[in-house]
Amino acid sequence: MELPYRPRRLRRRENFRRLVRETYLRTDDLIYPMFVVPGKAVKEPVPSMPGVCRYSVDQLVPEVQEVQQLGIPAVLLFGLPKKKDELGSEAAARQGTVQQAIRQLKKQVPEILVITDVCLCSYTSHGHCGFVRDGEVDNDATLELLAQVALSHAEAGADMVAPSDMMDGRVLAIREALDERGFEMIPILSYAVKYASSFYGPFRDAAESAPQFGDRRSYQMDPANALEAIREATLDVEEGADIIMVKPALPYLDILARLRPEIDLPLAAYQVSGEYAMIKAAAQQGWVDEQAVMLESLIAIKRAGADMILTYFAKDVAQILAK
Ligand code: PBG
Repeated sequence: MELPYRPRRLRRRENFRRLVRETYLRTDDLIYPMFVVPGKAVKEPVPSMPGVCRYSVDQLVPEVQEVQQLGIPAVLLFGLPKKKDELGSEAAARQGTVQQAIRQLKKQVPEILVITDVCLCSYTSHGHCGFVRDGEVDNDATLELLAQVALSHAEAGADMVAPSDMMDGRVLAIREALDERGFEMIPILSYAVKYASSFYGPFRDAAESAPQFGDRRSYQMDPANALEAIREATLDVEEGADIIMVKPALPYLDILARLRPEIDLPLAAYQVSGEYAMIKAAAQQGWVDEQAVMLESLIAIKRAGADMILTYFAKDVAQILAK
């Protein structure tokens, strides 16, 4: 049969496929999220996230050294407090868990970028991401608290802050607070397009951050909305964000693809705990090939438009790519 174009011609041999490949996954693209807990000598597996542990600062340091040796450019730190309270006061404490971790990492593994999650949910007794008044999260009262948290991270030496609370105006509030104190060179990675997702379930076990009443739908985005993603991202660009994040990743590839031509800042995607746990669980059952499904998911996230990916698979990927 005479077919003028046969797509299979360029698929026949691996070297043809290499020549025409459009997207690559690189170790340079990866950010490894990690959990820091109070105490000493703690290295505690998270049951719903096989392969992920919670570390005390002393145990975190050697683990981050390993991440650095694998060539991964950055880690993202989540902290847990000794004690939770209504205001999440420990989130901005100079001697808080994350603040101590940042100082130790900058001393002992200075090269790797330390990014910090800026939020209140793992620090508040009610588990919400902001200040609660009369059963509601008070947006504007929360901004000042978040700015203090971001500032405490920058003062401890964080290389970048990543607000994940979804309050309106928080990027601007944090930008102003950082600039006022001489941290005008510290970039903001904004969780700009963060959905009220059930894929965060395992993370909330790890961070003990499940809301004690209600849910997060009054501040995180409705999974049904796409145009709103453009509005959210555009607002954060105007407020001074340096990188725009979409979260979760795989169920929201359309959002990444829509944002790509609209937003001229780097785009990050967060492959969240539930995405990770599903792959792990199916692989443990022998139902999918873990490595293949992991790599396919990540290349799909890049193909959709992400420049970088936050993933609990970062170390595994770096190991595979180093071969
Ligand atoms: C905190 C925060 C969450 C995640 C990152 N930062 C949880 C949430 O919003 O409930 C989720 C990360 C993951 O699931 O891996 N606001």
